Amino acid sequence: MAVTWCVVLLGVLLSIEAKPSCKFEDDSSRHLECSPGDSDYILDKGLVSDKARIVTIILRSCKITSLNTDCFEGLPRLERLDISHNKLTTLPLGVLDKVPKLTYFNASYNIITNLPVGLFKNVQNLIQLDLTGNHLYEINPGLFKKVSLLYLSKNYLQGRDLHPNVFEISDVNFLLLNENDMTGAPENMLRTLHELLYLNLDDCSLTEVPKFITTPNLDTITHLTISNNKIREINEPIFDNLKDLEVLNLTMNLIDSLNDNLFTSLKKLKKIDLSKNRLKTITEHQFQNTPFLTDINLSHNLISILPVNAFRASALNKLDISNNRLTYLQDNFCLELKNSGAVLRDFYFSENPWQCACLHDLLREVKTLNLKYDDVNYDGGHPVCVSAGQFVCNRQVYVNEVYLDMYHLIQERL
Ligand SMILES: *[C@@H]1O[C@H](CO)[C@@H](O)[C@H](O)[C@H]1NC(C)=O
Ligand SMILES: *[C@@H]1O[C@H](CO)[C@@H](O)[C@H](O)[C@H]1NC(C)=O
Ligand SMILES: *[C@@H]1O[C@H](CO)[C@@H](O)[C@H](O)[C@H]1NC(C)=O
Repeated sequence: MAVTWCVVLLGVLLSIEAKPSCKFEDDSSRHLECSPGDSDYILDKGLVSDKARIVTIILRSCKITSLNTDCFEGLPRLERLDISHNKLTTLPLGVLDKVPKLTYFNASYNIITNLPVGLFKNVQNLIQLDLTGNHLYEINPGLFKKVSLLYLSKNYLQGRDLHPNVFEISDVNFLLLNENDMTGAPENMLRTLHELLYLNLDDCSLTEVPKFITTPNLDTITHLTISNNKIREINEPIFDNLKDLEVLNLTMNLIDSLNDNLFTSLKKLKKIDLSKNRLKTITEHQFQNTPFLTDINLSHNLISILPVNAFRASALNKLDISNNRLTYLQDNFCLELKNSGAVLRDFYFSENPWQCACLHDLLREVKTLNLKYDDVNYDGGHPVCVSAGQFVCNRQVYVNEVYLDMYHLIQERL
């Protein structure tokens, strides 16, 4: 009997400590931070509500399983609310109705599956909304009203199930959709966005560049990331409407073919990352007439043909062609680049099956022109090139395979 009583008492004590404990981080009682209690907790009115001066509430990792509708009442000045890393499956309608000043709301890393339309209708000043790392599998059209930075990364969204009107939020600047499945997303899904600057589609299971980036309103985008997908080719000039694009990231795809004029309309393009793809040849026109293009990464491809003309009238400053299948570059490659308008400073070309005579020419050139290059391997201690008897650079496509085989043979023996 006594033992039973003890257990019951202990249970009562524990349930008292189940509440997160909150304390002010400053003397002015404006910033409240809570730490978890011993067990799961339903946030109700009282713990953080009814504190007229509060500007910030942090309820991170507090084992909260659900929110009562009135838990954030009486907080007229609240601007920042962080309830990340809890166990919420949804947020009840009305819970944000009494926090009109809210600008930052972080509900990342919960297990939210969907959210009711109208949840954000009274938070007219919301700027940042972070829903990263939840289980959102659908978004009801009209859910998001006004928000500038919208983080939806790492959810369970399926492009094919999205309604064409999900993103009717004309003022969004940052839209992060990475680590969702965006295949089959509606082609006009982004048509109402008129201030988008940054779009992240990293790891979205895409097998082609999605059509939804082609609507004319997207001419405001400056940064587009489509890395880490399964795109094999880009044969249409699909980026033509992105007139303001400055950074294009296509790394880690399976791209083996690019439209000749893919970048021609992108007059503001500064940086392009095509590393870790399957490109074999760069065509004569590929990067021509892109007057601000300074930074091109072609590393980790299968390139054996790289004409200097490809960069004519670009502003090339940094070029990475390391880890490819180049055995030679055309004579005076760097000088030609310079003559065609480029201002090359950084040049990375290691891990190619260079013919020794060609590498020798190239090294002489980069030293004469005082370029920064990846010189770590050229210390005499590493095999960096192959030679077949006579020390001349054989600049003919058909000999490539010979040197490539020799290079691989050496690599295997190491
Ligand atoms: C939201 O919270 C997570 C986890 O606490 C944090 O990593 C992330 O940076 C926050 N998001 C923003 C936009 O501040
Ligand atoms: C492109 O994206 C990858 C992966 O998201 C990142 O590691 C890389 O730094 C990006 N490249 C550029 C030039 O921003
Ligand atoms: C080019 O991309 C590769 C792989 O994505 C990366 O390791 C390298 O640092 C990049 N090069 C430059 C010059 O940024």
